[in-house]
Amino acid sequence: MSTARKVIIDTDPGIDDAMAIFYALESPELDVVGLTTVFGNASTDVTTTNALRLLEIAGRTDIPVAKGAVRPLTMPYRGPVEFVHGTDGQGNVFLDSPTTAVASSDAAHFIIEMVMADPGAITLVPLGPLTNIALAMSIEPSLTDHVAEIVLMGGAAFVGGNASPAGEANILNDPEAADIVFGANCPIVMAGLDVTEKTLMTTADIARLATFDNPTARHVASIIPHYAAFYRDRLGLDGIHVHDSTTISYLIAPDHYTWVEHPIRVDCGHSFSRGKTLASMRVSDHEEAWQRRRPVRILTDVDDRAVIELELGRLAG
Ligand code: BDR
Ligand code: CA
Repeated sequence: MSTARKVIIDTDPGIDDAMAIFYALESPELDVVGLTTVFGNASTDVTTTNALRLLEIAGRTDIPVAKGAVRPLTMPYRGPVEFVHGTDGQGNVFLDSPTTAVASSDAAHFIIEMVMADPGAITLVPLGPLTNIALAMSIEPSLTDHVAEIVLMGGAAFVGGNASPAGEANILNDPEAADIVFGANCPIVMAGLDVTEKTLMTTADIARLATFDNPTARHVASIIPHYAAFYRDRLGLDGIHVHDSTTISYLIAPDHYTWVEHPIRVDCGHSFSRGKTLASMRVSDHEEAWQRRRPVRILTDVDDRAVIELELGRLAG
């Protein structure tokens, strides 16, 4: 019997999402049992098309794709980030249309069906706004009693945001949903900007990746230049931050990370700090709003060369 951990990846592909999905598919420690899609880097129509195409490229059309929410719980979609991910969400390479189709269930119901059919076995790996997970928790309030763990990319506990001075993009794209998810009754790991901005895939690493001779690495090599141009031109970086893949590295090699554990609330107000992930750090001082929440494992540091080597090794095939 396989001991691989069953994961559902909830995603808005997205260049770094594509990297994370392929990394997971190439990791025997993980069994990807579904992709669910959400708006974020692009509209849900675009991210769903991309999810289907990515699985075709990987030769894994056996994995179901369930289409998810098209907008946040309470506000309009903030819109695509074409300057980061391209108008197609894949670095403007404009993939052919997929030949496969989405599952009959929407993302929230797919997550509920999978988790309730295999209680305690499924880990959720959200790489985009947390709308689908929050919807699933609202439809089935006992859901997170049966989720093994949530390992999410999002948030910024002790550093500034990237979509606003306070807000990380995935959280700012649906703060109300994120606040619901941080109240889940299961272990939660937050791979936010605290650690992802310490993880740099350098230009030299990317050049190495471009030599890998397999379909998934070739696709990644074709989409990274658009992403790398953003990091070079806007942030002056010699490489790219590895956001979404951090969840996969943590799942397969947690020893490369350090963390602290504190309950989190998300600022859902309509002021400058909207979307901020607020960790309550003094146990005796916890406000009532934090008191009944499980501590979230907030990743704070990483052996970045080790995890970059790990990812490159898997993408090499
Ligand atoms: C997150 O926002 C998206 O642009 C990326 O795919 C990642 O999930 C980083 O803040
Ligand atoms: Ca993402």
